[in-house]
Amino acid sequence: MGTALVETLRGAVRFAGSRRGAPVTIRVDGVAIAAHDGETVATALLAAGLRAVRTSAIRREPRGPLCLMGTCQDCAVEIDGATDLACQRFVRDGMVIALVDGAGA
Ligand code: FES
Repeated sequence: MGTALVETLRGAVRFAGSRRGAPVTIRVDGVAIAAHDGETVATALLAAGLRAVRTSAIRREPRGPLCLMGTCQDCAVEIDGATDLACQRFVRDGMVIALVDGAGA
């Protein structure tokens, strides 16, 4: 996919006049990731290029945000020390996230 097509598609999915929230920084397994107020953790992880955020319990297969509405559970990560769905939590400056190895089915 060329740069020109990416720019065209980017314009197609943004609402006219929409603005991103204030910049925040979250830490994912100790790595600082830039995000914006109003984004979910899942959105921030995807925007940072993380498509897999955990592995399955038995086969250790990669899992990542799929439904983005709290149904599939594939976005389960540890957020500030507790397991939660990344698509159901908004980022907060200083939020600490740990990717999960072996959670779920
Ligand atoms: S992406 Fe499906 S529950 Fe979060």
